[in-house]
Amino acid sequence: MCGIIGYVGERQAVPVLLYGLQRLEYRGYDSAGIAVITPASNRLIVEKQVGKIKDLQEKLWNKKIEGHIGLGHSRWATHGAPTIENAHPHTSKSEIISIVHNGIIENYIELKKQLEEKGYKFKSQTDSEVIAHLFEDLYEENLLKTAFKVAGKLEGAYAVGIISTKEPDTIVAIKKGSPLVIGLGKNENFIASDIPAVLEYTKDFIVLEDGEIAKITKDKVEVYDLKGNKVKKEILHVNWDVSVAEKAGFKHFMEKEIHEQPRVVSDTISGFTSSKESGLFEELKNASRIYIIACGTSFHAGLVGKFWIEKFAKIPVEVDYASEYRYRDKIIDDKTFVIGISQSGETADTRFALLDAKKEGAKTLGIVNVVGSSLSREADYTLYTYCGPEIGVAATKTFTAQLVVLLLTALEVGLKKKVLPQDKYEDIYQHLLAIPSKIEKILLKNKTIKEISYKYMNAKDFLFLGRNINYPIALEGSLKLKEISYIHAEGYPAGEMKHGPIALIDENMPVVAVAPKDNFYEKMISNIQEVKARKGKVISVATENDEQIKDLSNNVIYIPKTINELYPLLSVIPLQLLSYHIAALLGKDVDQPRNLAKTVTVE
Ligand code: G6P
Repeated sequence: MCGIIGYVGERQAVPVLLYGLQRLEYRGYDSAGIAVITPASNRLIVEKQVGKIKDLQEKLWNKKIEGHIGLGHSRWATHGAPTIENAHPHTSKSEIISIVHNGIIENYIELKKQLEEKGYKFKSQTDSEVIAHLFEDLYEENLLKTAFKVAGKLEGAYAVGIISTKEPDTIVAIKKGSPLVIGLGKNENFIASDIPAVLEYTKDFIVLEDGEIAKITKDKVEVYDLKGNKVKKEILHVNWDVSVAEKAGFKHFMEKEIHEQPRVVSDTISGFTSSKESGLFEELKNASRIYIIACGTSFHAGLVGKFWIEKFAKIPVEVDYASEYRYRDKIIDDKTFVIGISQSGETADTRFALLDAKKEGAKTLGIVNVVGSSLSREADYTLYTYCGPEIGVAATKTFTAQLVVLLLTALEVGLKKKVLPQDKYEDIYQHLLAIPSKIEKILLKNKTIKEISYKYMNAKDFLFLGRNINYPIALEGSLKLKEISYIHAEGYPAGEMKHGPIALIDENMPVVAVAPKDNFYEKMISNIQEVKARKGKVISVATENDEQIKDLSNNVIYIPKTINELYPLLSVIPLQLLSYHIAALLGKDVDQPRNLAKTVTVE
């Protein structure tokens, strides 16, 4: 996930680009760059810097770059490490065209090969650079005409801004899959990944749809579909102020991040598919045992992953807290694989446990969100979640994305090992593709979940119950609640409740039962009965149209139907919203809860 911005107008472009990049920094901050066309020499001036936008600003402090048209980019690395070469904007061979890109070009390897055969030299490891060279290679008449040809070649998701010294008054923008808006000013226009980036300058916007191409000059904006037909676009007038807009209208980053999950799941599926590390799956196929190590929310993702890997890939899996695993007598041989899961890739417990196992001869894989982080460099292999930066300390979107990576890994290995039939693989994959729209449906229940939260926000303790693959979701639900609302909560396997926690249940105890219609439904119903018999208050997460559970529960939050194995990807969403609303209603500091840190780099 990166941020892009473009300006054409009467102002100096550089300050506008830098201001916009600052507002886009939440989308990525491992490198940044700008490209401006100077009117004096009609040349492209490109400046890039590794690090945050302030580092780029410092670099540009003494440089006088004049020009009224330019592009800017803040990068969140996907393909290629965060280096100057990999930073955007990318420039074509003859340095006449510059582009910024947000998204993933899935067929870039093929395109790169074709371009290399024609003599194009690549300076970066990015997928994006192919776009710059393609523009030069296919250039015909003008940028707009060329954009149609380029768009016809690109597969994947992209929002692209293009400028050229051949037309120093024009920005062309292409959009498919990644967001892009056009800000409309007086004698100036803008492109940006989101509205806040240019809200300082205008409140009127055109939101580009997938498959649209725009030509933008300082006093005109034209939008076309891919067939070249002009599209009449509505103007969206926004009345947010900048601080609200950064959170896209949400009160907290956590709420925003919960709502980003449909996109995050889609991006992680396509990211996984486009960057399959086949060497990794070959090695995993032969693993005799897997240890998954992680902390906090990532540990809970690992617990779900165990079910999938054992079921689909038939490899025994142990999941352990990294801080415990590190000091255990590990049983490691050359067929042992250790998977470290970490959003940040910097958690000391996870890193050191993985490094110790590696030293003892295990093969290692990191499942990481932050590109270039320590764990991604230390593990033998890395698989990424494609979430963009997660700002709320309580992890939400990275959890669902970790689940996606674990599931796809289990399926891939199962297929390679021939223990998972192709048709079963296809079936699960198709159901996975439907998950984002099902999450959207759950998010529409936000208001109902807020009402339920209001009812229970003063409880002193909560119990979360689940069985089998939804047991880790009960653990995650209880962790979310305690970390941001400071209410004591416990997650338990529902069948184990009778061996202890049942003693705690009385009329003051809310019990959240994760009870989708899967193979364990009847058993969950019995456990809910046990809670009811002791006057506990039952909040159920159930599959839509389940009427039976309604009679047993004080409140039901329905989730759409999916196959049994995929319920965790849905059942966690209401629990995230429940904790979020309880904490927000209690007036807690949701995004930065007391005593916690997003990344813990001490043991
Ligand atoms: C901290 C955070 C948790 C997170 C855990 C693991 O404790 O507060 O939200 O789950 O670290 O972080 P990681 O970056 O390794 O996934």
